[in-house]
Amino acid sequence: MTSRIEHPTAGTATDTVDGLRFPDGFLWGTATAAYQIEGAVAEDGRTPSIWDTFARVPGAVIDGDNGDVACDHYHRMADDVALMKSLNIGAYRFSTAWPRVRPDAGAPNQKGIDFYARLTDALLEAGITPWITLYHWDLPQALEDVGGWTNRDTAYRFAEYALTLYDAIGDRAPYWTTMNEPWCSAFLGYTGGQHAPGRQEGVAGLVAAHHLMLGHGLVVDELRRRGTSAELGITLNLTVPDPFDPTSPGDVAAADKVDHLWNRVFLDPILKGRYAEGLDALTEGMTWRDRPWQDVVQDGDLALISTPLDVLGVNYYHGDGPSTARHDADELLGSRARQPERPVLSPYPGGDDLSFPRRGYPVTAQDWEIQPEGLTRLLVRLKEEYDPPPLYITENGAAFPDVVGPDGTVDDQDRLDFVRGHVRATYDAIERGVDVRGYFVWSFLDNFEWAYGYGQRFGIVHVDYDTQVRTPKASARWYAGVAATGIVPG
Ligand code: NOJ
Repeated sequence: MTSRIEHPTAGTATDTVDGLRFPDGFLWGTATAAYQIEGAVAEDGRTPSIWDTFARVPGAVIDGDNGDVACDHYHRMADDVALMKSLNIGAYRFSTAWPRVRPDAGAPNQKGIDFYARLTDALLEAGITPWITLYHWDLPQALEDVGGWTNRDTAYRFAEYALTLYDAIGDRAPYWTTMNEPWCSAFLGYTGGQHAPGRQEGVAGLVAAHHLMLGHGLVVDELRRRGTSAELGITLNLTVPDPFDPTSPGDVAAADKVDHLWNRVFLDPILKGRYAEGLDALTEGMTWRDRPWQDVVQDGDLALISTPLDVLGVNYYHGDGPSTARHDADELLGSRARQPERPVLSPYPGGDDLSFPRRGYPVTAQDWEIQPEGLTRLLVRLKEEYDPPPLYITENGAAFPDVVGPDGTVDDQDRLDFVRGHVRATYDAIERGVDVRGYFVWSFLDNFEWAYGYGQRFGIVHVDYDTQVRTPKASARWYAGVAATGIVPG
């Protein structure tokens, strides 16, 4: 079976009387991730990932929630695909679970592979473009037990897993993303401890980041050698760091630090084949196992890491106003929303001086500032500074305190406004000449929001976790109209 899906090409956007018309073929999608929706954590041969373990650490996840059942998508996949089709969704970005495909990072597990083959086929059958993400944070626990992403060997094990899946469905899955938001895996996982595996080892985040990128490069390089016709990429979560007070040298330096330790630590190696000098300056003297951390970078790594890509995925949720003046202890993490009890550290190696004071923007339920024009600036910056491959917004969305009406519906005007604002910001970037070819709303379903558990809902479809009933929210109905017409009503 070969893909029946056409790849979109660069196009022009037009402002019509009906609203904003996106280029023909623009991909309107929605996204999820395996651990956040599948459940069935011990079925068909799956073994634990670092999130199964971390969710059981007291205080690591709000209310002790975990992904054991989640949205039970593993058993409801066919209905979920049918629901997507009824909402005119054009593309579905999902992740495959490494611990299903190669449990304990050992031999391939046919039942796990079959699940993703069935999902891919169901999507193609429904006319929905499948978009695979190979790593959305669920590292097999067996690999963490031997060092996880601070162990260089994990990159090679990742390539082994990726190729197993590619051998099974590479003939019909048109888009392959290696890593989702490696910043979170590296820095929340190994420096700050907010995410699995919860290590708080400073520079370990940089080491993990390098090995994540190495795993990415190994896969892209090998698939290129095999002459794949699939489009290959990586998804980065990027921010727009504006100094809290542009007249304060301390705040200007803080914004630069965040830019290097959040954006450029990935953008420069992947798109320019080198680490920025500014990053070296910021991390000077930081050692890993008694040697400069840069010693983890071996000859040939950066060439692999910068293997040319077909697409770059951009996840954007909010901008930031970094400062070096601590205005409020809660601002250390940039959120005053309820946090897990387990103490965490700054996710920026050497970033204890950073704070993220509120700037007066409206905020989401997670206290993330809503700044759609930041997305336009981010996309324009990428074009101007990095000459990237075609861009896709692979995630954008928001948690709000949804109120379920007596009939089970949710009139989530706040989420609808958020999505509309960011879709318009994407349009503005296209008008300014940026080649953006798709937008995926996060998320299709309410789901397990990592350390926040089930309390934060991002879905355009409401999930009743007691009954597993799915109910499209107002935002889903609005999005279905946009996806059907390619027009954002004015
Ligand atoms: C990005 C992550 O990829 C996704 O898993 C998460 O749920 C959303 N951000 C919202 O925080």
